[in-house]
Parts: sequence; structure tokens; C-alpha cells
Amino acid sequence: METKLQELKDEALKVIEAAGSPEEIEAVRVRFLGKKGELTQILRGMGGLSPEERPRIGQLVNQAREEVESRLAARFSRLEMARMQQRFEAERIDITLPGRRRRAGTRHPFSIVLDEIVEIFAGLGFSVAEGPEVELDYYNFEAMNMPREHSAREAWDSLYITPEILLRTHTSPVQARVMETMRPRVPIKIIVPGRVYRRDALDATHSPVFNQIEGLVVDKGITFGDLKGTLEAFVHALYGPDQKVRFRPSYFPFTEPSAEMDVSCFACGGAGCRICKGSGWIEILGCGSVHPNVLRMSGYDPEEVTGFAFGMGLERIAMRRYDIDDIRLFYENDLRFLEQFRVEGR
Ligand code: PHE
Repeated sequence: METKLQELKDEALKVIEAAGSPEEIEAVRVRFLGKKGELTQILRGMGGLSPEERPRIGQLVNQAREEVESRLAARFSRLEMARMQQRFEAERIDITLPGRRRRAGTRHPFSIVLDEIVEIFAGLGFSVAEGPEVELDYYNFEAMNMPREHSAREAWDSLYITPEILLRTHTSPVQARVMETMRPRVPIKIIVPGRVYRRDALDATHSPVFNQIEGLVVDKGITFGDLKGTLEAFVHALYGPDQKVRFRPSYFPFTEPSAEMDVSCFACGGAGCRICKGSGWIEILGCGSVHPNVLRMSGYDPEEVTGFAFGMGLERIAMRRYDIDDIRLFYENDLRFLEQFRVEGR
């Protein structure tokens, strides 16, 4: 019996060493130590031993079992480790490879410039308001101090949908809309970016759809000086502190007095060239003190509050900013054009 036990143990240890995978180890365990395993059988056969031999043989069997078990465990974990190592090798990632650059889209020059403008005015305490592009005649004209048959309406080549409804010709109607909802509270300090429509033919400097940014301030004691100071601060923030501005008297039905603001020509710096038609100046916006009728119609008492308003074309500002000489480039969605407006870090 002892010899048989010894042989069995030697055989088991040999097979364990020979096993090449965790699965084979499991098979070896079953073969020797399982319910019907060869070592287990020996324990079963102990019934036939004499009472004197039993404890000694029993001890030997247990020792053999323990030895086989610990060898099994050791070999099992070594094989598992080797398998893991193999997997790590196979799935190795080369972290030194350069990353794949993901091509993000670019922002349209309008969004870039508009964001800058909004940020400048936000710094001056303005907030952003919006209004509908399909507008009532009332807001577009009447509330802007242009009653029906007012000849100034002709300055805007309008696109009517019905006799009462049109595509707005400027962002000024939003002045009236905001005042109506705010009245009688002050201050109002808003800018209004948005698309406007005019019956113009498309060429290098005109588009039937373009973008304006309206501004409106209403408060107690607002003067024309506040208007000039605000717009000068805006131009200096946008184009740099050396930029010169000038105000020329002008006419709008909804402001009195009215003006147009010019900035020195970006191309010639004021000497006069083809772009500024020799004047050295380029007009960038219309402005003025809010007309008392406009305040009154939208629910404010012109004896109590005053205001100023301005309206500028986003296209013109973006063209100047990026030295673009044809307005059509903005609308054609030519990727060769758009991809040039890559913002740093994208
Ligand atoms: N709405 C005017 C335009 O479209 C611009 C403007 C706005 C002028 C506000 C004065 C005050 O030409």
C-alpha cells in the first residue's frame, strides 16, 4: 500500500509539472483528488487495513494529498500568470504613437465677430435681446415714428408678406418690443443681433439678407454724450485704442438728433484711398437720441427718461476685421473660405 501511495504521488507530481494550462491542472485535480480520484480511492480502500496500520497509512495519505494540493495550486497560479502575461503582450498599446487629430469644424466669421461685440457690450453693462424676423408693419415702421405713407419708409426697400406683415428691414423694431415689455422700468441697456431683409440685388457689397446689431439705452438723464462715449469705447475695444472715430449729422425718423459714425479707413489709415473713396473714413453705424415719439408710443414719458440707439451692420465689421472684399463669401459656404477661421486650439 505504501509503495502504491508513493507511486501515485510521484505520478501526480509528474503530471502536474507537465500540465500546460489552468484547464489541464483542473483535470489533474479531478483525476487524483476528485470524488472518484485515484488518491481518494486509496482512502476509501483503508477499510481493509488492520487497526494498527490505519493511523499511519491515514497520515501518509493525508500528507500525499496535501503535497499534491499545494503543488496543484502553485502550478495553477504560475500558468494563470503566464497566460495573463501573454494577453498583456498581445493587447499591448503603443502609447508613443501620435494621436489622431480630430477635425473639428470652424466657426463662421459672423459668430466670431458677434461674440466679440457681445462681449464688449456685456462689459459695458448691456444684455442681449432678440425679436422676430417676420415682423408687423407696426413695429418695423409705425412704432419707429414712420406712420403709413411716411416718405422715409422708402429708405428701406421692404419685402411685404401681407399688407400688415413684412420681413423686418432693420433690427430697430426690437427697440419698441423691448420697451413695451419693460415699461415703465429703467434702465434698458440692450443690444439686438439679428438678420434683416431688403429688396436689394446681391453684389460685392450688398445682400438682400444681412445682419445688424441694434443698441438701445433708456434711462433718466441719458445724453448724446453718453452715446458718443459708449460707441467710442466700443470701437476702441474692437479695433484698438488708436482708432479714430467721427460723428456726422444724419437723419433717421426714430432718432433726434441723428448721426452716422465713421472710423478711420483700415486700408489707408485716413490718407484716402479707393476703399474709403478718398475720404479716409468708413461709415460703420447709424445712431442718435431716441425720438420722443418713439419713447411715447412704447410707453415711456420723454419728459422723464431719454435714450440713445444705434444700428450697425455685422457684415461690414467682419469684412473690415478680416480684410474681406466681397460680402458674398459669407453666404456661399465655400469650405476653402470657412476653414480659414480656425480658432486657436481647435
Ligand atoms: N435702423 C437703422 C438702419 O437700419 C440704423 C439705426 C438704428 C439708426 C438705431 C439709428 C438708431 O439703417
